[in-house]
Amino acid sequence: MNNKRRRTIASSEKVSERLGQYRSLIIFLLFLSSLINILALTGAFYMLQIYDRALTSGSVPTLVALSVLAVGLYLFQGMFDVLRSQILVRVGARFDARLAPIAHRVSIEMPRYGYSSAEALERGRDVDTIRTFLTSAGTIALLDLPWMPLFLAFVYLLHPLLGFLTLGGAFVLICLTLATEIMSRRASMEMQKATISRNNVADSNARNADIIKAMGFEHRAISRFEEANARHLNLQTRTSDIAGTFGGFSKVLRMMLQSALLGLGAFLTIKGELSAGAIIACSVASSRALAPIDMAIGNWKGFAAARRSLGRLKDTLSTIDDDESTVTLPAPTKSLKIEGATVVAPGSGAVLVSDVTMSLAAGDSVGLIGPSGGGKTSLVKGIVGVWPLLRGAIRLDNAELSQWRTEQLGKHIGYLPQDVSLIEGTVAENISRFDPDASDDDIVAAARAAGVHDLIVRLPDGYQTGLGPNGTALSAGQRQRIGLARALYKEPFLVVLDEPNSNLDAEGETALNEALRTVRARGGISIVIAHRPSALVAVGLIGVVQGGKLTAFGTKQEILQDGATVTPLPKTEKGAQEARTALPKSRGEQHGRTA
Ligand SMILES: Nc1ncnc2c1ncn2[C@@H]1O[C@H](COP(=O)(O)OP(=O)(O)OP(=O)(O)O)[C@@H](O)[C@H]1O
Ligand SMILES: [Mg+2]
Repeated sequence: MNNKRRRTIASSEKVSERLGQYRSLIIFLLFLSSLINILALTGAFYMLQIYDRALTSGSVPTLVALSVLAVGLYLFQGMFDVLRSQILVRVGARFDARLAPIAHRVSIEMPRYGYSSAEALERGRDVDTIRTFLTSAGTIALLDLPWMPLFLAFVYLLHPLLGFLTLGGAFVLICLTLATEIMSRRASMEMQKATISRNNVADSNARNADIIKAMGFEHRAISRFEEANARHLNLQTRTSDIAGTFGGFSKVLRMMLQSALLGLGAFLTIKGELSAGAIIACSVASSRALAPIDMAIGNWKGFAAARRSLGRLKDTLSTIDDDESTVTLPAPTKSLKIEGATVVAPGSGAVLVSDVTMSLAAGDSVGLIGPSGGGKTSLVKGIVGVWPLLRGAIRLDNAELSQWRTEQLGKHIGYLPQDVSLIEGTVAENISRFDPDASDDDIVAAARAAGVHDLIVRLPDGYQTGLGPNGTALSAGQRQRIGLARALYKEPFLVVLDEPNSNLDAEGETALNEALRTVRARGGISIVIAHRPSALVAVGLIGVVQGGKLTAFGTKQEILQDGATVTPLPKTEKGAQEARTALPKSRGEQHGRTA
């Protein structure tokens, strides 16, 4: 707990560090913006000079000299502007390159904790949103905003009344912007939720295309999507309406303000308090002063979205567990100890498996049996660390799983889940778990151990056959056997197979049993879940899991021959308790070799 807390703090520091690397670049951008904004006064000064100097003196050379100077200054302004936008694009790309992989890591982790994949993918999109905003006019408006006082001061110097009018206008416009934010915040947050639930429906429909087609409920699937989409559109209309209404108001107000400034200028000129050039100069400078507010209002949606994304990203990044452990533990060779393991469902937190204790030594092979929904899959998900434990511990050679670095631990575990899925890539890549340094020998050895080598070489491109949407489609049994090879790759110490024979033919089962014997012979530990006894030929120990508990555990002879222990299985809590207390304490010592 304490440890966890420390880790979280450490990684949130890392987040600020990551974002802080942009600080010096931001300072440079602000400097560039100051140059651009000072140069932006060119137009106003030019007007002043023309009206007050060139026109009154009637001197063409003065006009030409002023114009040449103005063109030069404009060119500089343009250059700096281009430079600024190029820097922003690069900052956006760098930000993306740095954070997208981390956000993707969060996307991979989230489904384990009960989030939908659509929601997880949204985290990846957060990075996109921020990058898009960084390169939009909104960011430029933010960079220009601090220079507003410069233009206000310029207008004020022309005439204090003009200055006050511009300031008042700016104030009203800022109030409008804030009102937009306050009014649209709730709606846009709801919209985001609606977007995720719409994507969930779309995602699940696309994944279940076969079922939908075969049983002909395409229309119903579409209308379910339609409903979700309607909710999403509804909320989108609402947020856009709010932004649009305030945007329209502020536009009209801007035009009115511009005219009011000209009118006031004219009035002051009539009164003899202002020159004609000053009217134009005031118009140019005041529009420059108000431009960032205009742009901010226009880009408010993007800004609000980017801010929300940044907040979420910071949140998610700070919850990622960094692998802090720097000690590389030696490869486990002796034991697997499951001590009072209680596994909870990610998301709902319901206890699926409680208080399972089991001790296995090198060379042990245990078969887990029990009724559907008994908790076999949940238990092994806890054992291999996919699901977190509420209580208890899983230890490899006495070291708890959390002491291992994920990458390092993964090498010692082979896991074949119940619903085998292969990742888009070649057969070889799938077997080697995308190890870039995989040797062909290891891949072939794993395939041979799973008895799938001949099957693979018969595929169109052998080991290089591409799998996935655009690759070769494999049968369920073929997938299962390649999944088995993936679990056996580089002979991991712990091999966990969840119903590895559910799609296998006789030949596949023979290969599976042979593979299990090999694991035992080389001193590995294997856990096999099976409904069909044929997969239990090679195991020496049997555990019965039902009602979320390990209700019986012993050698195969003890459990299977003594029919009373298994059928009927103890139905009551008391029976289960008795069954467990009857279990030998340390399996390894008593049965490790005899099994
Ligand atoms: N992600 C989940 N969230 C909440 N409950 C779950 C989740 N996965 C499984 N369960 C529940 O946990 C219980 C045990 O499921 P589990 O998959 O472990 O059973 P099993 O013994 O492997 O069954 P089977 O032999 O059918 O594969 C079930 O009642 C199931 O409803
Ligand atoms: Mg299962």
